[in-house]
Amino acid sequence: MPNTLRSVSIVGTGSYLPKKVLTNADLVRMVDTTDEWITSRTGIRERRIAATDECTSDLGAEAVRRALENADVPSSKVDLILCATITPDMHFPCTAALIQHKIGAPHIACFDIEAACSGFIYGIEIGRQFIMSRTCNTVVVVAAEKLSSIVDWKDRNTCVLFGDGAGAAVLQHSSASHGIMASSLGGDGAHGELLCVPGGGARLPASVATVNSGQHYLKMMGKEIYKHAMKSMQQAVTEALQRAGMKIDDITCIIPHQANMRIIEGLAERLEVPMERFYVNLHRYGNMSAASAAVALDESAREGRFKRGDIILTVAFGAGLTWGANVVKW
Ligand SMILES: CC(C)(COP(=O)(O)OP(=O)(O)OC[C@H]1O[C@@H](n2cnc3c(N)ncnc32)[C@H](O)[C@@H]1OP(=O)(O)O)[C@@H](O)C(=O)NCCC(=O)NCCS
Repeated sequence: MPNTLRSVSIVGTGSYLPKKVLTNADLVRMVDTTDEWITSRTGIRERRIAATDECTSDLGAEAVRRALENADVPSSKVDLILCATITPDMHFPCTAALIQHKIGAPHIACFDIEAACSGFIYGIEIGRQFIMSRTCNTVVVVAAEKLSSIVDWKDRNTCVLFGDGAGAAVLQHSSASHGIMASSLGGDGAHGELLCVPGGGARLPASVATVNSGQHYLKMMGKEIYKHAMKSMQQAVTEALQRAGMKIDDITCIIPHQANMRIIEGLAERLEVPMERFYVNLHRYGNMSAASAAVALDESAREGRFKRGDIILTVAFGAGLTWGANVVKW
């Protein structure tokens, strides 16, 4: 087999959102907040919450089934499952393995990517590398989160922001004329403490004291994160476009991480792109970490926001810190 790199396309997408809707009005009954505060500061109106017996792998498996159906690819053809998540069903085994079992794709490779909100963008580039190098023919990238399981429902600073959901993409070799053109991935561990779950890991193993002091909940320094988000996403977009040999004006649709409307508007301003070219669904789902960009990609594709041959751009930022962008010719 010739050792030349192959181009890689997204041949199908899918998503799954749990049925239960938690509105801002519901949150007003839970913590000291208002619909006006939440919508004006974030743009979020409601979010989905998984059922008690619905795990991250259940959300992910359903998104994968829908993506495979959309791609018209049977699960027996998949060579690798990558799952981006910060809310795995368990510390181990990896959630990708649990999804592998649920979709019926035995013995194939699977592993998790812990890059928080940038996880799907990282996954697209990792999957692309496996196909480009001819190690795999078909890769499924799934981003699934049950953030409701790590949110402190008494903390108004964080509980209004997050939701549950999953999205997936099927990657395969494509003709050279379209596919994933370039990515930019970055990180900065010096700011890891700004957004984290401090307890339950090797540094602070679970104990009665860690549970009583709420160390197993998500902790966030919102203002600091906000500043880094803007800078890193702009940097990721610029670098990815440069690598793809594209300009921002060549992009039909920008699919950003869905954390906060003000962050997306700020990015639009910095990039000098009208808001109409951004796909936004955060008012319905809130921030679903890695799943946000994955669900937004699936919904924007199904809504016909771009057509074959259009250039689209995904961009995200999150805990780690991590950030990234993919440029894709659809
Ligand atoms: C979290 C975020 C919405 C807060 O918005 P902000 O304008 O920075 O608000 P502040 O943190 O300055 O808080 C302002 C006030 O609102 C209060 N407040 C916080 N949450 C509130 C809520 N849900 N309802 C009402 N008041 C609230 C704060 O206590 C603070 O009160 P104080 O001034 O009396 O201390 C914003 O910082 C943000 O979006 N950050 C980025 C978060 C993010 O994207 N995280 C995920 C990264 S992937």
